[in-house]
Amino acid sequence: MVWKISTVVALATLLPSTLGYPSDDKTGGPSGGKSGGPSGGKTGTPSNGNLQQVCASIQHAISSASAVFYPGSANYTADNAHWVTSSNQISACTVEPGSTADVSKILQLVGAARAPFAVKGGGHTTNVGFSSTTGVQISMRRFSNVTVNNATQTADIGPGMIWDDVYAALEPYGLIVAGGRVSGIGMAGFTLGGGYNWLTNQVGLTLDTVTGYELVRPNGSIVSVTAETEPDLFFGLKGGFNNYGIVTRFTLKTFARGQVWGGVIAYASDQLPAVQAAIANFAKNSTDPKAQIIAACNFMNGSLQVDNIMFYDGPTPPPGIFDEFLNITNVFKDISTRSYLSLVQSANVPAGARGAFHVATILDFTPTTIAAVLNETTFWGNKLANDGAFLVSYNIEPFLSNIYQHGLTPAAYPPATSPGYLPINLNFAWTPASSDATFISALKTSAQQLTSVALKAGQAVEQAPLYTNYALSDTPLERMYGDNLPRLKAIKAEVDPKNVMGLAGGWKF
Ligand SMILES: Cc1cc2nc3c(=O)[nH]c(=O)nc-3n(C[C@H](O)[C@H](O)[C@H](O)COP(=O)(O)OP(=O)(O)OC[C@H]3O[C@@H](n4cnc5c(N)ncnc54)[C@H](O)[C@@H]3O)c2cc1C
Ligand SMILES: *[C@@H]1O[C@H](CO)[C@@H](O)[C@H](O)[C@H]1NC(C)=O
Ligand SMILES: *[C@@H]1O[C@H](CO)[C@@H](O)[C@H](O)[C@H]1NC(C)=O
Ligand SMILES: *[C@@H]1O[C@H](CO)[C@@H](O)[C@H](O)[C@H]1NC(C)=O
Ligand SMILES: *[C@@H]1O[C@H](CO)[C@@H](O)[C@H](O)[C@H]1NC(C)=O
Ligand SMILES: *[C@@H]1O[C@H](CO)[C@@H](O)[C@H](O)[C@H]1NC(C)=O
Ligand SMILES: *[C@@H]1O[C@H](CO)[C@@H](O)[C@H](O)[C@H]1NC(C)=O
Ligand SMILES: *[C@@H]1O[C@H](CO)[C@@H](O)[C@H](O)[C@H]1NC(C)=O
Ligand SMILES: *[C@@H]1O[C@H](CO)[C@@H](O)[C@H](O)[C@H]1NC(C)=O
Repeated sequence: MVWKISTVVALATLLPSTLGYPSDDKTGGPSGGKSGGPSGGKTGTPSNGNLQQVCASIQHAISSASAVFYPGSANYTADNAHWVTSSNQISACTVEPGSTADVSKILQLVGAARAPFAVKGGGHTTNVGFSSTTGVQISMRRFSNVTVNNATQTADIGPGMIWDDVYAALEPYGLIVAGGRVSGIGMAGFTLGGGYNWLTNQVGLTLDTVTGYELVRPNGSIVSVTAETEPDLFFGLKGGFNNYGIVTRFTLKTFARGQVWGGVIAYASDQLPAVQAAIANFAKNSTDPKAQIIAACNFMNGSLQVDNIMFYDGPTPPPGIFDEFLNITNVFKDISTRSYLSLVQSANVPAGARGAFHVATILDFTPTTIAAVLNETTFWGNKLANDGAFLVSYNIEPFLSNIYQHGLTPAAYPPATSPGYLPINLNFAWTPASSDATFISALKTSAQQLTSVALKAGQAVEQAPLYTNYALSDTPLERMYGDNLPRLKAIKAEVDPKNVMGLAGGWKF
């Protein structure tokens, strides 16, 4: 039950569709959420024939750096594929832009035709319709360059990349960026939504480390977005996903690092009291910002196992911080002094066929709230076994209380820089599509239960923001963006008066 890199991630094999543009989402995702996501502008969408014309017009307009693909080609299948197959939809065609100028042309063409489309980075969203579509699927996979800027201590990173490849490109320079914590995750959606990372205690969310974006605005104009040049867009892109256009380049702060320490240690359920105490002690007493953990409470194959991923930002942690974890009888251990890339690749979350994330936000991991998480894991693991559960998982991620105070400028997410709210990530995976509604409903009930436990324990979390990259698709915008929402909507109205980005799914301002 340890997430090794060798775990096969089930990728979709999409059936080539003769129609290409089914009127409803037959392959689509968890039906408990809003299918297709809360998105505007879906009225008067073109017929399949018109979509084929849009695909043809894109093919005609783009340069040789880019290409359009149709059902039957391997690229088409790869472009539509997501981490969980429940996020896949059958698009009319896919397009892989290879230059910013071509992204501009594509956006102008889908905008003029009012054609539904999607923008996909790594394809890790579990909300159907957020980076999938029955219209024109834009895959950013050809944007895979990393350029190091010595003078500014930043790197330009292509939005088609997964973090593993970003880290591999930076390793020869002795540099890292504050990105994904486990193997295989897309950099674009992660960074556009927030980004809890291994340096979060030291530098904040990944979006706090972004110094610039290259953006293709909804009308096709290309703009360099920095705090100085475009303060509104700079604010909006720090949490606002695809509302303001398509990002074609991220500039992230780099950090000079050599070896780090950590990896995965796993415990069987007979060690739960000791594990629970060790997590509580770490959450309460660890004050070294270089030390972080993710305690993944996983119910799989009929039993509960805790996979604790430990990280120390240095070759050797000072004594005391992790000793209690190392002292508990384990069933698997892969802890060492290693490269940052090696540490990230030591942890891999297996994708079931279908899956969804959700989130409960609390203020403190205390013995009470940790016990509640473990109880929920066992309760729902057992209860959902007969519904085709593959994995029932809850991630405990204790951070220091000042993590939202590292940004130099305001960000769309989170709506306030204090208190230091902590998201609990719920990750359920299952096999039969007929169980979608059961699992979505369970995610909501369980998140509510964890919130109730925190409230009863005196934690003021009624209005706590829910993290955009973990929340189910029918989560109200107010619960994620809070008081930032009016400004975000005003910026959207100004940059996208024709609501071109409303033709794509996702959180819509
Ligand atoms: C196994 C696993 C581990 C994870 N670990 C973490 C973690 O440690 N910390 C954390 O914070 N989150 C984590 N996440 C959540 C992760 O941040 C989201 O799944 C994120 O959206 C992934 O980015 P992506 O590029 O793969 O997403 P995609 O599904 O490709 O896109 C997500 C959204 O971003 C938009 N988007 C993508 N690219 C662009 C672009 N270039 N321009 C405009 N809009 C764009 C899409 O349209 C879509 O709405 C994890 C997810 C998984 C599956
Ligand atoms: C779960 O059990 C199946 C067989 O039923 C096995 O193939 C799989 O490896 C097990 N998974 C883990 C993580 O132990
Ligand atoms: C996608 O197409 C390009 C050429 O346009 C090719 O080099 C590449 O191998 C293809 N990828 C897949 C997965 O088929
Ligand atoms: C990536 O870099 C190469 C080499 O400099 C360049 O030709 C290409 O246009 C770049 N691709 C993108 C998407 O920027
Ligand atoms: C950037 O810094 C690295 C390491 O300090 C050095 O090897 C490289 O030559 C520098 N590159 C430029 C373009 O200055
Ligand atoms: C925090 O440390 C103190 C002093 O060692 C200890 O008494 C207390 O139990 C620890 N807290 C938790 C939650 O373990
Ligand atoms: C390790 O375990 C032993 C035996 O159970 C115990 O005596 C010791 O105090 C533990 N050390 C730590 C750091 O937890
Ligand atoms: C465990 O969780 C279930 C479901 O949320 C709940 O009904 C039950 O009261 C919990 N048990 C304990 C001991 O907290
Ligand atoms: C595109 O939008 C930007 C920002 O709203 C605006 O400045 C620019 O003039 C627009 N370009 C065209 C061609 O309409």
